[in-house]
Amino acid sequence: MNEAESAPMFSASRAGLIIREKEPANLEFAFTSLGPVTSTNEFFVRTHFPVPAIRTQDWTLTVDGEVERELVLTYDDLLGLPATTAPVLLECAGNGRAQLVPKAKGLLWDTGAVGTAEWTGVPLSVVLEKAGVKPGAIDVILQGADEGEVDDPKSPGAIHFERSLPLAKALRPEVFLAYQMNGKNLTPDHGFPVRAVVGGWYGMASVKWLTRVTVTAAPFEGFWQSLEYAYWKRERERPTLAAVAEVQVKAQIARPALSEAVPAGKPYRVFGAAWGGESDVARVEVSTDAGKTWSDAELLGKAVPFTWRLWEFLWDVPKSVGRYKVMARATDTNGHTQPETHDADRRTYMINFVFTVEVEVM
Ligand code: MTE
Repeated sequence: MNEAESAPMFSASRAGLIIREKEPANLEFAFTSLGPVTSTNEFFVRTHFPVPAIRTQDWTLTVDGEVERELVLTYDDLLGLPATTAPVLLECAGNGRAQLVPKAKGLLWDTGAVGTAEWTGVPLSVVLEKAGVKPGAIDVILQGADEGEVDDPKSPGAIHFERSLPLAKALRPEVFLAYQMNGKNLTPDHGFPVRAVVGGWYGMASVKWLTRVTVTAAPFEGFWQSLEYAYWKRERERPTLAAVAEVQVKAQIARPALSEAVPAGKPYRVFGAAWGGESDVARVEVSTDAGKTWSDAELLGKAVPFTWRLWEFLWDVPKSVGRYKVMARATDTNGHTQPETHDADRRTYMINFVFTVEVEVM
C-alpha cells in the first residue's frame, strides 16, 4: 500500500482554527498567526457539502465534451504526468464578509478565509492537450465529487459543486490539478485525492475532489457561478450577473490584533500581507490615524506571482494614550488601489475595501 492509499479519511486537526460552521466544515485561519506559508492544519476550509470519501484506487478523472479523445485518467496516470510545485494563495470570495454593514447573510468570515500553500500537481493544460481541445471550445467545467441540495437559493435538486474557467485561463500555467499541499498528499478537507488550484482567482474556482473536466462550446451558467459566487457587472450601464473571478487587490493587518494593547511611546511593528490576484503588489501604505495620513510600508522579500507579499511598518507609537485606528491599503501593479467602501454591486463577495483595526495605546 503506498502512502496515498493509506491517507487518513478523517479530517485534519482543527486545533487553532476558528469554527464558522461545524458540519460541513467551514474553518477560518487565525490571521494573527500569519507567516510566509500557511501550514495545512492552519489553512482555512470552505465546504458546501459533506466531504466525499475517495480512495486513490477508486479515483478517476474523466475529461469529456469538446475534445478529440475522451480520457479517463487513474491516480497513477496523473502522477505519471509532468508536475510543477508552486506557492499559490487561495482567498474565499466571501473573506471579510463579517466587516460588511448591515450584517450580511452567509458565513461571516473575518480576515482568515485566505492562505498561501505550496501546491504540487499537473498543469490542466497538459491534460487538455492530451485530450485535444476541439476548435470552438470556450469554457472548461471543473466538477467536484461532492454533491447535495442547497436551500437558499434553492438548487434544482442535488447538484455537484462545479465551476468553469474560460479556456484561455484553463490553459495558463497557474492552473493545475494538485495532489499535494505543502509537500504531503492533500487532506480530505482540502480535496483529497486531487483538486484544482487556480492562481489569481478567488477560491471557489479551485474545485476540490475533482473528478470530471468538461470542455464546452457554450458559456457555462451553473448554480455556483450564476446564483452563487456571481456579482453585478455594469457594462454599457446595464447590470448583468457575472461569475466572480479574479482576486482584487487587498492588504490585511495581522498585528496588531483588534483591541490589542499597544505600549505608548515605543516603536511597534505593524505586520501584514497584501496580494493582487493576477497582478503583483506595487505598494502598501499604513495609516495610524484613521486614514487621515498614510505612510509607505516596507514590502518584504520579493514578489512571487499568485501569492501574497508580506509587509511591515514601524509605528512610532505616540505617548498619548487612547484608541487608535490602524489601517492598511494596497495598490497593485495595474494601479488599482483598494476602495474605501464596499461596492453593493459585488453583493457579499470580493470584499476588499480598507479595514480598520482599532487598538488601545496604553
Ligand atoms: N470544491 C468543491 N468540490 N466543493 C466546495 O465546496 N469550495 C470552494 C473551493 N472548492 C468547494 C470547492 C471554495 S468556495 C473555496 S474558497 C475553496 O474551495 C476553499 O479551499 P480550501 O477549503 O482548501 O481552503
